[in-house]
Amino acid sequence: MVLRNLHCSFFRNITDLNLDFSPDGAIFEGSNGAGKTNILEAVFLLCTGKSQRNAKKLSMINTQSAFSFIEGNFIADNKEPIRASYGFDRQKKTSMQINNIPILSVTEWFGKRPIVSFSVDDLELVYGTPDHRRKFLDITCSQLYPEYFDALLKYTFFLKNRNTLLTQTFEPDQCDIYDSYLAQYGAVVMTLRDIFIRESEYDFNRFYNEICNGKETVKIIYKPSIFADCSSKEECKNVFYRTLQEQRKKDLDAHFTTAGIHRDNLEFYLNDMPVKQFGSQGQCRSIVLALKLSSVTCMELHRKEKMIFLIDDAVAELDPLRISKVIPLIEKRGQLFIATPVFSSPLTKPIPRYTVADGSVYQQ
Ligand SMILES: Nc1ncnc2c1ncn2[C@@H]1O[C@H](COP(=O)(O)OP(=O)(O)OP(=O)(O)O)[C@@H](O)[C@H]1O
Ligand SMILES: [Mg+2]
Repeated sequence: MVLRNLHCSFFRNITDLNLDFSPDGAIFEGSNGAGKTNILEAVFLLCTGKSQRNAKKLSMINTQSAFSFIEGNFIADNKEPIRASYGFDRQKKTSMQINNIPILSVTEWFGKRPIVSFSVDDLELVYGTPDHRRKFLDITCSQLYPEYFDALLKYTFFLKNRNTLLTQTFEPDQCDIYDSYLAQYGAVVMTLRDIFIRESEYDFNRFYNEICNGKETVKIIYKPSIFADCSSKEECKNVFYRTLQEQRKKDLDAHFTTAGIHRDNLEFYLNDMPVKQFGSQGQCRSIVLALKLSSVTCMELHRKEKMIFLIDDAVAELDPLRISKVIPLIEKRGQLFIATPVFSSPLTKPIPRYTVADGSVYQQ
């Protein structure tokens, strides 16, 4: 899949932008605050319906406007043209269309156009709270496994309902129903998260050592909040349900559901030592890159479709050795959009360069 054209109206500091892209992608250069990350954000939104920097939609609408509109013309690897249009306004109304046909459910939007984003915020995957790691799992697994996103949305819906119930007086039967739905959808998410980690752990180790020319052992461990044998969905579901039942008293006191996939975590180890406490900054950066790259190979295996890569300022954060290892690993796998004040790393193919200034873009 490649993005051939991007149109943005009143998106952040971009009032009107219409750009055609080469299948190789684009490099956006320009001073701080020019609008480079905003362009990448528009592309990410077109592919996932979300901001890669976790921003709310309201903050993305140009401050002088009542709405934002973005549209992208993609070409799938089978040459099928896909026009994705996404509009939203200050009344929180969102309109999504694919080839001019309205899309009513986010499940039909998310994960259809494979994309991987690299940015300095990715370091939060190691240093940040577990929700950063769950967000990474969610975005990756939703693009890998068709049933993941739907199960996650349903789980989130029933979790909200169960949490509301826990703050009221209720009939136990009512909570039993929510418990069984949470167990059903939670087991799907849990088993797929486990499958993803198992599928990517070999490449994770390989990429880590390739990036830093090392011979260390890195390990990634999926730590579900409910401990069950993830190789069987049925077993997982039963343990999940039993745990929710056993925890109900505790949940009533806490006024929320204390166990489930919304409390899962990932842990990273370097030579059996936890990276968060013992890793150097460079090692942590390499861990993050290796994780992202292993998710790329996993996606390539499942989707058999070229991906879109967003690299935001990642270059500035990496030393020349790391960047010389990373770019070749991704540039042959898809279309690259790079945003950085000045780009000076070697590329094997020339990618068109643009200058961004005050939300306007000029080809160099
Ligand atoms: N809703 C909005 N309406 C108008 N302008 C906005 C909005 N949101 C952000 N901006 C502006 O967008 C600019 C930031 O854009 P962006 O984050 O893309 O910069 P950048 O070129 O990536 O800079 P850096 O090199 O520092 O990362 C800022 O000038 C900010 O004021
Ligand atoms: Mg930026």
